[in-house]
Amino acid sequence: MTDQDKIKEMVSQCLQARDMAYCPYSRFPVGAAVLTADGTIITGCNVENASYGLTVCAERTAVQRAVAEGHRHFRAIAVTCDIKDRFVGPCGACRQVLMEFASDWTVYLTKPDGSYKETSLSELLPLAFTPGHLTQH
Ligand code: THU
Repeated sequence: MTDQDKIKEMVSQCLQARDMAYCPYSRFPVGAAVLTADGTIITGCNVENASYGLTVCAERTAVQRAVAEGHRHFRAIAVTCDIKDRFVGPCGACRQVLMEFASDWTVYLTKPDGSYKETSLSELLPLAFTPGHLTQH
């Protein structure tokens, strides 16, 4: 599979994951798909709760699933929601959670029609606080 095929697969899987979103309160479904270093794709969707603050975003669902399945090294994440007319980035909390595992993630902001904009975590979260800071004081 070429890199381009992998990107297409991630984009397609994040769109499918969005259909699994549990979002009765916001009615704002989000899908995510992470690509691990060994080429595995793991998806997530947002999972809301009647106690609103307990909601987990799609990106964090995907990362936590991946870690629970033994993955710690990541290459990329694709994220999508229902907004059709612009590319939408992950929330700040999710950017920080991604930063825990790598600073060089490629991020594909994906529209519902499957078109995407490539960016990076370092672009989305400049001057980040990272695990490395805890060992450098
Ligand atoms: N949401 C995500 O899943 N990811 C983000 O990056 C932004 C927000 C979810 C949380 C909530 O279920 C809904 O979108 C509205 O905020």
